[in-house]
Amino acid sequence: MRVLFASSEVSPFAKTGGLADVAGALPKALQGLGHDLRVVLPKYRGVDTAQFELRKILPRLVVPIAGTVETAAVWEGRNGSVPTYFVEQDDYYDREGLYQTGGKDHPDNAERFAFFSRAVLELARALDFSPAVYHCNDWQTALVPAYLRTTYRGDPEVAGAGVLFTVHNLGYHGLFKPAAMAVANLGADLFSPFGVEFYGKVNFLKAGLVFSDRINTVSRKYSQEIQTEEFGHGLDGVLRARAQDVRGILNGIDYDEWHPSRDQLIAARFSRDDLRGKAACKADLQRVFGLPARPDTPLLAVISRLAQQKGIDLIAESLDAILDLDTQFVLLGTGEPALHHAFEAAKARHPSRVGLKLGFDVTLSHVIEAGADMFLMPSRYEPCGLNQMYSLAYGTIPIVRATGGLDDTIQSFEPETGVGNGFKFQEASGEALLVSVRQAVALYRRREPWRRLMANAMACDFSWNRSATEYEALYREIAPPDGTPRA
Ligand code: ADP
Ligand code: GLC
Repeated sequence: MRVLFASSEVSPFAKTGGLADVAGALPKALQGLGHDLRVVLPKYRGVDTAQFELRKILPRLVVPIAGTVETAAVWEGRNGSVPTYFVEQDDYYDREGLYQTGGKDHPDNAERFAFFSRAVLELARALDFSPAVYHCNDWQTALVPAYLRTTYRGDPEVAGAGVLFTVHNLGYHGLFKPAAMAVANLGADLFSPFGVEFYGKVNFLKAGLVFSDRINTVSRKYSQEIQTEEFGHGLDGVLRARAQDVRGILNGIDYDEWHPSRDQLIAARFSRDDLRGKAACKADLQRVFGLPARPDTPLLAVISRLAQQKGIDLIAESLDAILDLDTQFVLLGTGEPALHHAFEAAKARHPSRVGLKLGFDVTLSHVIEAGADMFLMPSRYEPCGLNQMYSLAYGTIPIVRATGGLDDTIQSFEPETGVGNGFKFQEASGEALLVSVRQAVALYRRREPWRRLMANAMACDFSWNRSATEYEALYREIAPPDGTPRA
């Protein structure tokens, strides 16, 4: 089946979060099932043409936008063996930051991603690719279904295709002033509660929820949560109205990139059967962060966007008490300035216990996963979460809040039965987090059950194959019967 997979970020080309990991790995897995997957993303400034051996395949793609037309060029590269297209339009994408700079959203994001969405459809036409399914992800590509079902309705080359829309995060709407309707060339009739209007604004994400054939999210639990007021971000009503078409498919992880027995970014390789390398990785992590080399001190870690969603403030709140348990703590992350300050202050109070890197660093994220003993994810909501799964692979025990994909992937360890792969708490509070951390630290000091827990964690298998098969089934539900778009 021919599938065009549109995403605003794709690892290893451009990444700010888990969407990139998914867009980098899922198409490969689907290709492995025999499908013709192709991926498309914007050609941002950071995309290295030489490193990725990109070549220009279309010098001039004409894309209608804002009542006129603009042109783009299209480059092609490979992600493994998946053909990957890059939409080059320097006015939109040749700048610092994918979505924002200096903590501020780019003011023309509506135009940048309306353009990208429209370019996806024009690209399919220009390549004569005729996808049976367009697979779109999050608000940045959510206008693809809107265009497909309105602007292109009468166009036999594209209109027959099915559209799957994957919600990686319902909290980011792509919310713009009403003037964005004209910028995106959307008909005024769509500015209604049944279309893209949302409390007087234009909501790109809503276009994905309204116009796609199926909607899925990235864990079973989150697919249920988003249909409730508590987790719905104001869109739960829209989702409940489409409950029949909403699915949850758990993300997988790419074990080619995230496996301690193969990882070249870490100090030493290790596996479930031979954990000696893990001690070397812990020593390396302590060295990198300038912490005393203490092999027996529990080392807790965080790698995260520093955002309200992630509950990082709960960690800041309980950090002194966590360190009082004779632990070390490292954090790699970037985001809200108030959280930067909170952790800088904590480091100033406990210089020999806290390691801090306020930035984005993929290599360091591997070093941390490999070297830490425990990994904290106290998220307020978490559509799937990837780091808890990476942590499991490296025998780094996740301590998580029971929400979304965290709830679906982590089972609390029971010392009596020896069953479980981590620690899980219910309430979004520093207190509840601390209770779990205390349990974890106490268990860590009892060598045998901790080893059992690590073995359980490392035995978990979240490879993409199973999830890819579920996506394949979903594609089949919406693809035209003979695999080519019906006219
Ligand atoms: P989200 O997409 O909500 O940020 P996920 O857990 O799905 O959360 O994925 C986050 C991804 O981004 C992981 O691959 C994680 O390692 C990575 N990541 C987050 N912050 C950083 C950072 N500061 N440096 C490097 N990688 C990071
Ligand atoms: C999002 C979610 C995260 C999920 C990722 C990939 O950014 O916040 O939970 O793992 O997308 O689907």
